[in-house]
Amino acid sequence: MTEKKRIGVIFGGQSGEHEVSLKSARAVMNALDPEKYTVVPIGITREGQWMTGGDPLLALEQRVDPKLLGREPQAGVVAETALVASSGHLPETANLATLDVLLPVLHGPFGEDGTIQGVFELAGLPYVGCGVLAAAVGMDKGLMKAAFAAAGLPQVPWQLVNRKAWEGDPEAVYQRLEAALAYPMFVKPANLGSSVGISKVQSRAELAAGIAEAAGYDRRIVVEQGIDAREVEVAVLGNDEPQASVPGEVLPANDFYDYADKYLEGRTQFQIPAAIDAATSATLREMAVVAFKAIDGAGLGRVDFFVERETAAIYINEINTFPGFTAMSQYPKLWEATGVSYRELLDRLLDLAIERYRERHR
Ligand SMILES: Nc1ncnc2c1ncn2[C@@H]1O[C@H](COP(=O)(O)OP(=O)(O)O)[C@@H](O)[C@H]1O
Ligand SMILES: [Mg+2]
Repeated sequence: MTEKKRIGVIFGGQSGEHEVSLKSARAVMNALDPEKYTVVPIGITREGQWMTGGDPLLALEQRVDPKLLGREPQAGVVAETALVASSGHLPETANLATLDVLLPVLHGPFGEDGTIQGVFELAGLPYVGCGVLAAAVGMDKGLMKAAFAAAGLPQVPWQLVNRKAWEGDPEAVYQRLEAALAYPMFVKPANLGSSVGISKVQSRAELAAGIAEAAGYDRRIVVEQGIDAREVEVAVLGNDEPQASVPGEVLPANDFYDYADKYLEGRTQFQIPAAIDAATSATLREMAVVAFKAIDGAGLGRVDFFVERETAAIYINEINTFPGFTAMSQYPKLWEATGVSYRELLDRLLDLAIERYRERHR
């Protein structure tokens, strides 16, 4: 028998999706086949400190709002977990040299945006998911759109706004936006996620307020043409020959799929497979693979589309390079409906991490 692989599972992190990461990590750690893997949990606090030893997942769970986590903290639990004082690099106590693969179960900035992937590259270890470039491009709505456009993927009309330029001459920015786009528009910080800082605006006054809001999060702001569309998602798995899952549809409970809907209210429904015709489904699956390749993706990605209600036109919205990964999340559900179980998905992702590492170091 071959020796068990030691998997460093990293979770928590400094983004707004800290709680989601904890939920995803709990599910991942429960599902990893104990016959094949030894799990080494590595936590990152909201402040960016790394935690190893003891039970860092429990230690982090105890700190978050039970409403967000979906379960009560256990009273009296003191996790004997070492907080590593230095932030921003892999702690020595994780005994890196003994790890075979890193599995960052992190969403959003500092997890899904290439920064931590750079640390893994420096450490010289295989890791699950996209590399530095793909992760960074996938997190930046401006560059992501440029990459999709270059690959010939259809997108709603959009404009990029620089915060400094807007502060200098807001009127000129509003005029440019109104000349290119019609209301309603969607205003988004370029680098975020979870719908944070996003607003749907119907007028000049709302546009100004929306930009001010987004400018609180980022130097660069994307403004898009708003459309009335169904939201359909496709999961992608693989490296150089990625495969696409069946499409699933998101049925948001609110006006749009906003932060409250995603994480607080949980009233959004998913329909898998999506109730769409076979031709549209095939097109979406092809486009998802094109999008994944357009950013040079690796491992996994969830590609989100709009299907306009009136015209049935397809537009790509975005790619998420580390989508939610609880057993109830769309990404694993989409694969389950395509014939790949949650546990098998993890096996495949760990194999893909090693494959990509070897290919890069060939
Ligand atoms: N151009 C648009 N037209 C219509 N709805 C949109 C548009 N852009 C975003 N939305 C709505 O806002 C949600 C969040 O936008 P998205 O770009 O996916 O941001 P995030 O990266 O935070 O998920 C989408 O799921 C959708 O409901
Ligand atoms: Mg989205």
